[in-house]
Amino acid sequence: MSKTTRLIQRGRSDAQRVQTVNIPVARASTVLFDSPEHLADTQRRFETDEAVATYGIKNMPLRNAFEELACELEGGHRAVTLPSGLAAVSVALLAVVRAGDHVLVSDSVYGPTRTFCTETLAQFGVSTTFFDPLVSGPELGGLMRPNTVAVYLESPGSLTFEVQDVPAIAKAAHERGAFVIADNAWGTGLLYPVMDYGVDIVVQPATKYLAGHSDVIIGAIVANERAWPRVSQTAHNLGQTASPDDIFLTLRGMRTLALRLQRQGETGLTVARWLEQRPEVARVLHPGLESDPGHALWRRDFKGASGLFGVELKPSSSRQVSALMTGCPHFGIGYSWGGFESLIVPANLRHGRTVRPWEGGPLIRLHVGLEDAQDLIADLEAGLERWKSAA
Ligand SMILES: Cc1ncc(COP(=O)(O)O)c(C=O)c1O
Repeated sequence: MSKTTRLIQRGRSDAQRVQTVNIPVARASTVLFDSPEHLADTQRRFETDEAVATYGIKNMPLRNAFEELACELEGGHRAVTLPSGLAAVSVALLAVVRAGDHVLVSDSVYGPTRTFCTETLAQFGVSTTFFDPLVSGPELGGLMRPNTVAVYLESPGSLTFEVQDVPAIAKAAHERGAFVIADNAWGTGLLYPVMDYGVDIVVQPATKYLAGHSDVIIGAIVANERAWPRVSQTAHNLGQTASPDDIFLTLRGMRTLALRLQRQGETGLTVARWLEQRPEVARVLHPGLESDPGHALWRRDFKGASGLFGVELKPSSSRQVSALMTGCPHFGIGYSWGGFESLIVPANLRHGRTVRPWEGGPLIRLHVGLEDAQDLIADLEAGLERWKSAA
């Protein structure tokens, strides 16, 4: 069965019990038992990691269904639900480190991931080295220390969209026993099966494409068998869960994920190709474009593109950039991405890059939604006219 079909079929076994297509939303803290023996038996099964609920924090039907579907998507052993993508980032890292350990983190990661490492991990005696996202396997191997326990990737990178050689990096990390963690928000397991390339732990900010409608903040971690006990225990010890309403909406979003990604990827490439021809544009940062330095790796490892990419403008003032972005009827100005609607934001590298600082011109990030490509292009054309007039 293909992943696309599995995203429709799986995660519904509890619904079959009540004969509905979807699992009803059950709000619960307390779970009731018939007798103390029933409670004790369920508790014993819970402690052997069976997916049974003793309390509303874990193993409720919707949550189990979401975790099952997240596993189908990413191809892992088991998954855990988190209240946000950033919570998934921090729990994944906390799961594998001990005081005195060292982690290697790509310089291109989501800014708050970086801050979690330099502030929170540092507070517990874990040191971080940021590395060039374009590192080769042997170069990465050279950065490993005896106490390096994890290599953290994000491909394509946040804001600058570098594609990483995940199989080579994972091989080098595994040779020295480290876990490989990857934030797979951009491609998801549908377009980018990173667990097939050696990733042990996938961080999935489900807020983005999985939920897909800009109305939920939620995350998931998918782990392989080796990483699962640590991930599961750490998430549980930290009391991580998400509301059943948010999980319901995310499951609903996941049923149409394949269709949305396909359409948004196609429209994104149409818009990116149009922008590439414009005289106001210095470069379009989209690995699906033949001109992109990451294109060969993208062709090798990805099954398609999503709708998020960067645009470097020719040298221009902040007034011009603001004029471009202000007054686009179809591109909202706002954070996050992965919803059905288009967004535009200045690509703010304020969290900094220490290995590969951004040296180009003004950078904006576009998220292409489900609108018609020609409407989006007309919107950007008018924006570029405003950019010129504001010069
Ligand atoms: C690549 C990436 N990872 C993680 C996150 C964090 O996800 P959340 O907003 O659900 O905390 C984001 C949010 O923008 C992101 O872009």
